[in-house]
Amino acid sequence: MPRADQLVFPSRRERWEDRRKEGTHRKLLDEFFDHPTLLAVSRLVNQGLLDSVDFPISTGKEGGVFRATRGTEYRAVKIYRIGNTTFRHLPPYALEELRQQTSVRNFGGLIIGWTRREHTILSRLADAGVRAPHPYGHLRNVLVMEFIGDERGAAPRLKDAVVEDPAALYEDLVAQIRAMLTGAGLVHGDLSPYNTLYWQDRVVLIDVAQAIRSDHPQAKALLERDLTHYAKFIGRLGYPVDPADFLSAVGGDRLAAKPAEE
Ligand SMILES: Nc1ncnc2c1ncn2[C@@H]1O[C@H](COP(=O)(O)OP(=O)(O)OP(=O)(O)O)[C@@H](O)[C@H]1O
Ligand SMILES: [Mg+2]
Repeated sequence: MPRADQLVFPSRRERWEDRRKEGTHRKLLDEFFDHPTLLAVSRLVNQGLLDSVDFPISTGKEGGVFRATRGTEYRAVKIYRIGNTTFRHLPPYALEELRQQTSVRNFGGLIIGWTRREHTILSRLADAGVRAPHPYGHLRNVLVMEFIGDERGAAPRLKDAVVEDPAALYEDLVAQIRAMLTGAGLVHGDLSPYNTLYWQDRVVLIDVAQAIRSDHPQAKALLERDLTHYAKFIGRLGYPVDPADFLSAVGGDRLAAKPAEE
């Protein structure tokens, strides 16, 4: 197995003079790249999915997203922390589906199932033509996907982006959410300007692991909740949106509101 510092943050030695960054990277190495995770990254390198993990884009309690390089391309690597018992990403409705699909007996198994789930959902979105990062592969708690951004950095979250044309933003969101619902048969479940990137004046939907099938009894309520929040956000940009119109524009008005009667 290659040494950790050959795979993860390989250029940090060039910045050895930057002690603060060096300290942060060492802390992240300890927190995210335990031995099994490093082994998974190393296998993904051997499979040709990436060459190295370059630096963190975003790190949180449950996981981190890192920029990676493969040849002349960039990629994004999302790593879920295994040793974390307060995992807010596992809402009951999605967990119930996960438990049906996989026999997960322990917490680590759940996280691994969760990583696989995110990969599967990204593949379904790609097939349906929804704008979301293209998935390249996964192993254990590590997911490799398309990097949204360029050499200057990752795309901003919609929440932090400058939107010139809110009407066009609304139309684009409608098209993506509609394709997700009617093409992929999925409801995102945690859609917000935080889980949407804004790149070249277009939205890219991210953080999809909790998505559920559109025939799930809770699908309509989740979609309505997210669209209502989203409508407020677009309204604040100067383009008033009626949540009910938003729902019907994406095709959500046709979803069953309640579970079918037995
Ligand atoms: N494919 C990608 N390309 C570029 N940046 C990305 C990509 N995926 C995620 N990011 C960045 O990483 C952040 C966290 O990603 P994501 O929302 O999937 O993870 P999370 O575990 O939910 O983290 P958080 O709790 O911060 O939302 C995003 O807000 C975005 O800035
Ligand atoms: Mg998120």
